[in-house]
Amino acid sequence: MKNVSSIILAAGKGSRFGSELPKICHTVGGLPMLFHIIKSCADSAIEDIVLVISTKLSDVSSKIPLSCTNEANIKTAVQPVPLGTGNAVLYGFKQCSKASEWIVVLYADTPLIRAKTIQSMLQATDSKTGVVVLAMKPDEDSGYAKLIAGPDETLFAIVEEKDAASYNLRDGHRFLSLCNAGMLIRREIAEQFLDKLPSSPITQETYITNIVELARETGRTCHYVVGNAEELRGINTRADLAAVEKSFQERMRRAAMDGGVGLIAPRTVYFSYDTAIEPDVIIHPFVTFGPGTVVRSRSEIKSFCVIENAEIKSGAIVGPFARIRPNSVIQENAHIGNFVEIKKSTIGVGAKINHLSYIGDASVGDEVNIGAGTITCNYDGFKKRQTIIGDKASIGANSSLVAPVNIGAGAILGAGSVITEDVPDDALALERAPQVTLKGKAKKIRAKRTI
Ligand code: UD1
Ligand code: CA
Repeated sequence: MKNVSSIILAAGKGSRFGSELPKICHTVGGLPMLFHIIKSCADSAIEDIVLVISTKLSDVSSKIPLSCTNEANIKTAVQPVPLGTGNAVLYGFKQCSKASEWIVVLYADTPLIRAKTIQSMLQATDSKTGVVVLAMKPDEDSGYAKLIAGPDETLFAIVEEKDAASYNLRDGHRFLSLCNAGMLIRREIAEQFLDKLPSSPITQETYITNIVELARETGRTCHYVVGNAEELRGINTRADLAAVEKSFQERMRRAAMDGGVGLIAPRTVYFSYDTAIEPDVIIHPFVTFGPGTVVRSRSEIKSFCVIENAEIKSGAIVGPFARIRPNSVIQENAHIGNFVEIKKSTIGVGAKINHLSYIGDASVGDEVNIGAGTITCNYDGFKKRQTIIGDKASIGANSSLVAPVNIGAGAILGAGSVITEDVPDDALALERAPQVTLKGKAKKIRAKRTI
């Protein structure tokens, strides 16, 4: 959309949130809430996006994941002092493309807003429109600004909650049970009034919501579209964040199941914003996916697994109780069992690591069998080092593979070995003190002890 700009407000103090980290950097589904709203703007085909940020966040635009931007042009404007949303929009507006006829104003602390909801404001405009407000009917209205209808039942003004008690409602006007969640402003109205918004006598801030009353005075019409309250919930407190996370997870679970993924106990499975799971995957109860995870069809994730920035290929079985850490690939039909941790490793087709292992910085070949308790000793206190295991090798239980080390294809390692040197293909390697067996000795010891 060439004639629309979006201003995303993210420069507030977040004082009700109680965190050193700016509120809008806290995550929903593993992604800072600010980036969710950027993604929705970009998905709604808005190409000109201006983020209004505080001085604390001045380098944030360099951290926006590419997947959120959808090739939109993202600019930043710094609001030096948080003097209210009216003041913030004023800073943002200076950066908006001059070609834009409409300005969408959104709050960065409302991360679940969907692209189609943003578009619904644009669809509600006509040649007389000055402002379209995105309204919602929350279950509890604490914190939100209320819409006021005039005698003709159209939108007359918006009153912030903090100022509602001292607001003089004119004759024939009434409070609607609807609250403000964002708005669309005609450029001409923004140009005319952004620097003339009054300051609240209660908070001394300027409110963008006051632009409605000013727009009406020019003869322009103001109206509203009603969106879903759960989607438009703002995050002011930690409790709001938890509620939004819950809604986000429900959205992801629903989308996964609609896409053919089997969730045995949906409410116990946690997704990240970018978790990609193909159809016919079965996910057992209590599984958490960190960012960057792809799970291919016909694989199975058993209970109590945590998988992050990894790819699980078709037919693989992971868990129960497995941890797959970043930069790992579990190839087709491989099995990763209980109490196994994999980090920055590729596990080959049909390989089995079924019990109590740590495999880090390793390349494990196809059909390798790794015995219980095997550990790659990948860190010498200074540097991480590689372990390479060739196809069809068999690693005896409780082996320690001291990296860097190369185990050849088809090699067999005896149980309990500490392997410090490369093992050629098809060799048997053992590293173990010879066993001592003294016949009858145990009986003698027992007899001595009982005297
Ligand atoms: C705001 C709206 C309110 C609406 C509610 C919806 C105003 C005055 N109030 O209230 O109408 O019902 O959101 O959730 O618009 N911000 C800045 N600079 C500032 C102040 C705030 O960029 O000087 C940003 C914040 O980072 C935040 C957003 O604007 O992302 C909203 O600010 P917040 O203080 O949370 O406003 P609310 O009281 O929630
Ligand atoms: Ca808010």
